[in-house]
Amino acid sequence: MRVIAFASQKGGSGKTTLSGHVAVEAERRGDGPVVLVDADPQGSLSEWWNAREAPTPAFAQTTVSRLLTDLDDLKARGFKLAIIDTPPAITLAIQSVIAVADMVVIPTRPSPHDLRAAGATVELAERSNKPLLFVVNAATPRARITADAAIALSQHGTVAPVTIHQRTDFASSMIDGRTVMEINEKSRSAREISDLWEYVSDRLERNFRRTVFQASAVSRRDIQPRTGFGRRHANAS
Ligand SMILES: Nc1ncnc2c1ncn2[C@@H]1O[C@H](COP(=O)(O)OP(=O)(O)OP(=O)(O)O)[C@@H](O)[C@H]1O
Ligand SMILES: [Mg+2]
Repeated sequence: MRVIAFASQKGGSGKTTLSGHVAVEAERRGDGPVVLVDADPQGSLSEWWNAREAPTPAFAQTTVSRLLTDLDDLKARGFKLAIIDTPPAITLAIQSVIAVADMVVIPTRPSPHDLRAAGATVELAERSNKPLLFVVNAATPRARITADAAIALSQHGTVAPVTIHQRTDFASSMIDGRTVMEINEKSRSAREISDLWEYVSDRLERNFRRTVFQASAVSRRDIQPRTGFGRRHANAS
């Protein structure tokens, strides 16, 4: 099971909006079963999910102290992807969430305040040695500051090549528990979410393969003496 955490110290950057949208999109693309985990005491994601009629993605209520055990349990139940929404703070709670994540997605509005706050989230992800990905969210179409923001963020880490624009359907669709794709799957907003998930899932898998490769490179070194031991056995018999 892959685990993605949406985190940013800045309030209102789009963590909950993008968590819900990415979870629904992953499920629609057949990359599920997906489970959403709300680690934010504000409970915005659970409120959205409660208003939702569609049975998927699933939802898991948990606490930071139970997170690891609950993720193991969800994995055992066959979930392929867990998406965790976090509160706008740098707390011990977020640190524990980042520790269990395979990737940390940091939604960032193209505003000076959001850009200034990004550093703190980056520090947290880097301390746990987790791959992080910035997503520029709520950008005004054709605004110069969007490109400037992407350039500024790229000095801290990877920026998704997909920008999510400021559109009312991102907010209005969530009122009754839906997403932009469930209002109009051909809308520009739906297209952005689809492109975003394609990029995120590809990156997630590449990171995973790299980790497995590195792990096997280490274990190959480790097993050298044992190979010799095995050969001696083979000669002896
Ligand atoms: N791309 C967008 N277009 C239009 N509105 C958006 C977009 N992204 C987020 N919003 C709106 O901005 C507000 C904040 O978004 P959201 O709740 O997802 O942020 P958050 O990072 O989860 O906030 P918090 O830090 O409080 O948890 C919401 O009202 C949401 O509907
Ligand atoms: Mg939120």
